[in-house]
Formats: sequence, structure tokens, C-alpha cells
Amino acid sequence: MSDQNSLIELSQLSENKINQLFQSCIELKKKFKQHTLPESTLKGIAVLLFFEPSTRTRFSFEAACARAGVHPLILGGASGTSLEKGETMEDTIFNLEAMRPLFFVIRCPDALDLKDIQKQISVPIINAGWGMKGHPTQALLDTVTLFERWGSLRSKKILFVGDIKHSRVVGSHRQLSSILNYKIGYCAPRELLPQDIDAKSVEVFDGLDEGLKWADAVVGLRVQKERHASQSDDSFISEYRHSFGLNSQRLEKFKSDGLILHPGPINYGVELEKEVLTDSRSVILQLVENGAFMRETLIRQILQNQSLVIKGSL
Ligand code: CP
Repeated sequence: MSDQNSLIELSQLSENKINQLFQSCIELKKKFKQHTLPESTLKGIAVLLFFEPSTRTRFSFEAACARAGVHPLILGGASGTSLEKGETMEDTIFNLEAMRPLFFVIRCPDALDLKDIQKQISVPIINAGWGMKGHPTQALLDTVTLFERWGSLRSKKILFVGDIKHSRVVGSHRQLSSILNYKIGYCAPRELLPQDIDAKSVEVFDGLDEGLKWADAVVGLRVQKERHASQSDDSFISEYRHSFGLNSQRLEKFKSDGLILHPGPINYGVELEKEVLTDSRSVILQLVENGAFMRETLIRQILQNQSLVIKGSL
């Protein structure tokens, strides 16, 4: 049975719905900081399945559950579970559904068909990072952070630098950019660019300086060595850092009111130098703060039984 409160991909949302999520998230954060949120009573349990590693997403969902009055049951990797005895991810989900959670949060490899799973269970699923397919809550927390600063993303230019080919974050931003009408640019070595770039919807920059001059926001992406077919050797990393790494000197070419993002975790000395974290334009840790509030917003919507789906179906 498909559940209308699920969030598997962002193409299911309308511009109005996303703007409502942004407003709710900002309001929630404001009330949290003013200590004016009513105390949450326990409403039930949720199952958080992280079949792949995570720090920010997992702990922000845990924090969001705690603040919204939901007790999270957490699986963080196979260790100590029956996955080690060969039980499948699908069976794990079906068994945990039998414990009557309010919803699932799932991070998983591409091999698990989240859309098919959703048809087979009766509670919502929030995609917390699905292989290379998408990471919708990351794109939402990135854009709510930009929305807080800019008021609107329409016609703004976001440059993604680095491992675009393996990035589920970029995949979700591609969907979101066509709803919120922001522009996307890529800057990466040829081997880290996707093969099928739609030149009508993406600007490609060979050089980082040129891309930084174009952009209103720049997103450094982790070089995902674990997803590369061949081992990235030291000379590749050294050349990458030289040509595509973000550092203070490079960022002199970037506008003074531009914003610097990175979804984390960061490979310091590869895609980004430590000094960038303290650049006044960096919102890297604000993304993490907003991530917990955006995830709490989504959970509260599920608890209020508000449909996240506005158009189409999964
Ligand atoms: N950005 C992000 O998804 O980080 P984690 O892998 O630590 O959750």
C-alpha cells in the first residue's frame, strides 16, 4: 500500500508545498530558540534504518524524533542484527513494520527498491540517502538555508564542485531546481562528471575560477572514493586539490555575499581546506543545524497526517 506522507524523491512536491516546508522549518527553529514550543508528549515509535554509514542525517533524525515526541528505534549498520545472519533488508523492514512504527527513515544502497518497498508497507518512508539516486532531505536543508538568507531561490546560481557523478545530493538538487527555478552549474574533472549532462539545464565550467565568478552559492562535494571503480591514487588527489579544491585564495574570486556549502563529511585537504569553515560566507555548520529542524518539520507533518505529495504518485 503506497503512503501519501512518504518522501522518496523531491519531484513529488510542488513549489507551494516546498515553500510551506521552508516557512514551517524557519518558524520551528525560531520557536525552539525562544523556548516557546509546547512540550511534546510521546506519540509512538519510528524506525530509523541506516544500512549505510551516517552521522549528520542519522543524528539529526534522532534529534528531530526526540523533539517531536517520537521514540526512535535505530539500526546503524548490520553489526549485531540478523542482517549478519543473511536476513535481507526487505525482511528487516517487513519485520519492523510489524512492531507498528509511525514511519520509517531509511538510508540504503541503490539495490534496495524504496519505491517498491513503499507499495508493500502501510506507513510513510522518508528517504535518508538512497545510493546514488537521491538525498531529498539534504537538498531541502541546503535550500532552506539559502531561503533564509535570500528569501527566494528563483534565478539564483548554485555551483557544485567535485564528485558530481556519484552525488545523490546533486540528483535531488536537479529535481528541486526545476521546481524552485534556480540554476545549477557543474565544475569537476572529466572523470567525475556524469556522462549524460543536459546542457539546457546545467552550466558546465572547466575552470573553478570561472565557475566561482558565476555562482551565488558554491557547494563543495566529497570525493566519494568508495564509489569509484578504480582506486583514486595520490597523483589524482593532488591534481584534484590543486585544480578543484576550495581554499581561501581560490575563494577571493567568489562574491563577497556568496554562500559556501558542503553536505559533509569533508575530506580536508582534498575538496576543501579547513580555513574555509571559518570563512564568513560558510554556512556549513548552519546546514547541520537546519537539517535537524527540516527533518523535524517533515516528521511533524507526518504526525499531523499532512500529505507531502501534491502532484503525481510514486
Ligand atoms: N550529509 C550527510 O548525509 O551526512 P551523513 O552521511 O553524515 O549523514
